[in-house]
Amino acid sequence: MSVAARLMHNRAFSQIYETLWRPLFTRGFSLGGSSTLDYDRALRAYLARPGDRRVLDIACGPGNYAGDASRGLTGDGAYVGLDYSRAMLAQAARDNVSERVTFLRGDAHRLPFASESFDTVTCLAALYLIDDPLAVLDEMVRVTAPGGELIIFTSVRASIAALPGAPTVAGLTGVRVFERTEILDRLHAHELIHVEQTVTGVGQYVLARKPLRH
Ligand SMILES: C[S@@+](CC[C@H](N)C(=O)[O-])C[C@H]1O[C@@H](n2cnc3c(N)ncnc32)[C@H](O)[C@@H]1O
Repeated sequence: MSVAARLMHNRAFSQIYETLWRPLFTRGFSLGGSSTLDYDRALRAYLARPGDRRVLDIACGPGNYAGDASRGLTGDGAYVGLDYSRAMLAQAARDNVSERVTFLRGDAHRLPFASESFDTVTCLAALYLIDDPLAVLDEMVRVTAPGGELIIFTSVRASIAALPGAPTVAGLTGVRVFERTEILDRLHAHELIHVEQTVTGVGQYVLARKPLRH
């Protein structure tokens, strides 16, 4: 298991993740600028919009999007956070108490849900740690309902990643750097629509929608 993957199972790390680590690395993704933080703010506002949605947050960590993603839910709307780290899930359950919110231990490679069961499926800041990320994308598509959306934040190769030292850092930590169109190509292969990529330094946000008739 890589250094980064091992950290995710550490209780102390799960406790400082949201308040200390996440803001730091979010800034790092935009190479010291604020573009990733700015996009992230917009994403949080989008996730908090009112609606009767079933939301799945894959690799939810300590539930740092659970509050935003569940706040606007109406009707039968529900949020499910899935992660394989007991430490992260314990922190998530402590920080997010709501009858609309559930946390579940599971592996992103084999989602324990029926096909087409969620309207919004997110995987944020995790694909670069996951052994077989393209298989996880396939799972995300499978569990998304027709007309539903997928939201991804992960790494992307930018010019900085070509600098001496950058591959070593990625190699040592176990953080994978995706090629510019790698994620998009996989989503297009599933015939998703409105596939949009926003690059913020060495981070990318990708939004896509499953057509109503898939
Ligand atoms: C950096 S944290 C991201 C947390 C949160 N989504 C965010 O945006 O800040 C990565 C998370 O991915 C989880 N993870 C990694 N591989 C996983 C897998 N195969 N299945 C489920 N969770 C996984 C880790 O346990 C960790 O909580």
